[in-house]
Amino acid sequence: MSDAERWSAAVTDDVFALMDEWGPEKVVCVSDRRTGMRGVLVLDNTSRGMGKGGTRMSPAVTVGQIARLARTMTWKWAAVDLFHGGAKAGIVADPAAPNKEEILRAFARALANEVPKEYVFGLDMGLTENDAAVLLDELGDRGAAVGLPSALGGLPYDQLGVTGYGVAEATDAAATELGLELRGARVAVQGFGAVGRAAVRRLAELGAVVVAASTASGCAYDPDGLDVDRLLALSAELGDDCVREYGPPAPPERALTVAADILVPAAREDVIDAGVAESTTAKLVVEGANLPATPEARAILHKRGVAVVPDFIANAGGIVAAAHSMDARHSPFPVRPDDVFAMISAKLRANAVAVLREARDQEITPHEAAYALAQSRVREAMVLRRRMPA
Ligand SMILES: NC(=O)c1ccc[n+]([C@@H]2O[C@H](COP(=O)([O-])OP(=O)(O)OC[C@H]3O[C@@H](n4cnc5c(N)ncnc54)[C@H](O)[C@@H]3O)[C@@H](O)[C@H]2O)c1
Repeated sequence: MSDAERWSAAVTDDVFALMDEWGPEKVVCVSDRRTGMRGVLVLDNTSRGMGKGGTRMSPAVTVGQIARLARTMTWKWAAVDLFHGGAKAGIVADPAAPNKEEILRAFARALANEVPKEYVFGLDMGLTENDAAVLLDELGDRGAAVGLPSALGGLPYDQLGVTGYGVAEATDAAATELGLELRGARVAVQGFGAVGRAAVRRLAELGAVVVAASTASGCAYDPDGLDVDRLLALSAELGDDCVREYGPPAPPERALTVAADILVPAAREDVIDAGVAESTTAKLVVEGANLPATPEARAILHKRGVAVVPDFIANAGGIVAAAHSMDARHSPFPVRPDDVFAMISAKLRANAVAVLREARDQEITPHEAAYALAQSRVREAMVLRRRMPA
């Protein structure tokens, strides 16, 4: 049975079907009749440390979906070699519901046995910094949530652009590994949101020539290089429409097909399909978004010798920042952004190179190399704890 089949079977049939050699170790479903709150916490694998992953609110939340995301967190933490385990929580509700606060408070109360001992609330789809503040308040413990507003000691990840910064650092290290100088290389970036903007800013600082940047509204394109400062200023003012104001925009898909040495998808999943993979001129693809390439496209890129830095290696900047926030929960001193950026740079550069080298040496795809790296670390921890035979 494939993972996808198992996850969907678990939703319709039996939560035990979720459980394999890695986890989940614990699944807690909660509900509250008064507010209509229904939610789930999945602790996937804690052999390397306490489970940590964001808290999502969406009407589409299912136990299987949260379990899948918790498993992804197990691999992400292990790949970046920080000592947390995989976990995720979800609330089945509309984030625009007028009684959102009541629902959040009911969810926090229902998990008072687990939080903050076994799980700490964090941000994911549908939750804002202010919601994290409510969750923390309900349990009366400063350790109960991360992703807090800065007035409560939190670190504004998206404003600082930690993930995009890491994507750019990974790009620089990967390019060097491939003998492709980033300085002067043509880079196309799809997506100009929290990740894309910060990636473009840092790529330009590192000397890359950003030839294309797109949003859902269109694509700013200049084969001689965009005026990055101007585009960033327009984005701060106009959001996704910055590309229209910048100049006559090309269609949004253009960022994926322009002549470039490096392609950075930083918008959404499955945008690199077989067609893009067959035709791209890029020698390197760095996955800023989650799952931006279809499995078929990955295979084609591999066959064509295009190097790929996988999503959970390239976009791990956010979890490095989350690790610092976890550590600072009971401290009077706020996290210093400089410390976070320094660690993101060191870890993501090293990981990008390690995965590309392993893929080359073992003649496997970078995704296979990345999973193997993460799994070997989790396996070693499980063996040491006698949770798994040697
Ligand atoms: N924010 C983070 O820290 C973080 C961390 C890890 C992974 N990610 C992943 O990175 C991706 C982007 O996240 P984000 O936080 O930047 O989101 P965002 O909502 O801030 O920005 C998304 C951008 O993509 C653009 N876009 C959407 N559809 C497009 C299309 N068809 N063509 C071109 N552009 C399009 C949007 O217009 C917007 O500019 C997602 O896959 C997300 O899961 C984000």
